[in-house]
Amino acid sequence: MTRPKMLVSGGLGFLGSEIAKNFFQEYAITIIDNLSTNVVSIDDLKDICGEITYRNMDLAKLSKVDLDWLNTELNDTTIFCHFAAAVGVKKIDQSPREAIINENKINHDLLPLLAKYKTKTIFASSSEVYGNQENCVEDQSLQIGPPDILRWGYACNKLMTEFLLKSYEIPHITLRLFNVTGPRQSSKYGMVIPKMIRDAIKTGKITIYGDGTQTRSFCHISDLIGSLKYLIEQDKFTNQTINIGNDQNRVTIEELAHLIKDTLKLDVEIEKIAFNDEYSANSKDILKRSPSIEKLKQFYRPQVKLKAIIEDIAKSYE
Ligand SMILES: NC(=O)c1ccc[n+]([C@@H]2O[C@H](COP(=O)([O-])OP(=O)(O)OC[C@H]3O[C@@H](n4cnc5c(N)ncnc54)[C@H](O)[C@@H]3O)[C@@H](O)[C@H]2O)c1
Repeated sequence: MTRPKMLVSGGLGFLGSEIAKNFFQEYAITIIDNLSTNVVSIDDLKDICGEITYRNMDLAKLSKVDLDWLNTELNDTTIFCHFAAAVGVKKIDQSPREAIINENKINHDLLPLLAKYKTKTIFASSSEVYGNQENCVEDQSLQIGPPDILRWGYACNKLMTEFLLKSYEIPHITLRLFNVTGPRQSSKYGMVIPKMIRDAIKTGKITIYGDGTQTRSFCHISDLIGSLKYLIEQDKFTNQTINIGNDQNRVTIEELAHLIKDTLKLDVEIEKIAFNDEYSANSKDILKRSPSIEKLKQFYRPQVKLKAIIEDIAKSYE
């Protein structure tokens, strides 16, 4: 029997590659990636998933040939997981203008095609759209920071795509992701757990940016996949927005550093430096961020505890 087709943009990245690994038995997977921040190669992924179609393509610079290919591909695609984007506080800090321009170009070219074929789209949005608000409920009014601080461009990008999916009447589910982490997540662009673990193991030092009282809630990748298994198959949440995160794994960054130190049983020095010693004035730290997951809990309960997340990521450095 032929499997329905799933197209994954950013499919060689951390989250996209896990989607491919977890859905290849039910879906024939096609991946688009421009290899800008990928964490796996297509050959590694094929070793796990078998046959996968791959197209090295920059969605922000589509040629006529690329557009023709996408037209043909989307014609018989059942699910489109849209996970390609410039990611990470550090990466956005380095090139904020490029991130905004690219997202606009991607939306300009891609969304009319999704509308034409009415492709069910799972869009990876972000908790960033909640700005500095502590309570994050899907239907609340949003309040992001001013354009003087360019990092907010990332939140605007995500929100713009959320609006456009609705205005094009593309059947979609928007996932607002709250610090989803796990093995193979890059430590390069400010993802805190992989970075702290790598630094602890490789340098014996964990650096906290700011006073360490900022809070975050961490969610294991398997809990994103668990929730996707339901959302991809069911239509109940079509055209809705859902927070994906784990409210039980809420810690301050200082507590996190100590938990990593204790879990790894390493002699690690924990130092604090000012946030803007590491990040430019275009960036500003978020003080408190935790998801409301009442909507998620209607069909899925996140399971992996913070200590187990740390152990799982640390294993990939063995
Ligand atoms: N991991 C999280 O906690 C989190 C939180 C909020 C939002 N998100 C969103 O989830 C998505 C995936 O994040 P991730 O953590 O897997 O990041 P990632 O950097 O590992 O994956 C992104 C992938 O997209 C590719 N890519 C980037 N720009 C592209 C372009 N123009 N054309 C084609 N491919 C392109 C990269 O090469 C990379 O493989 C992103 O949209 C991100 O904004 C993730």
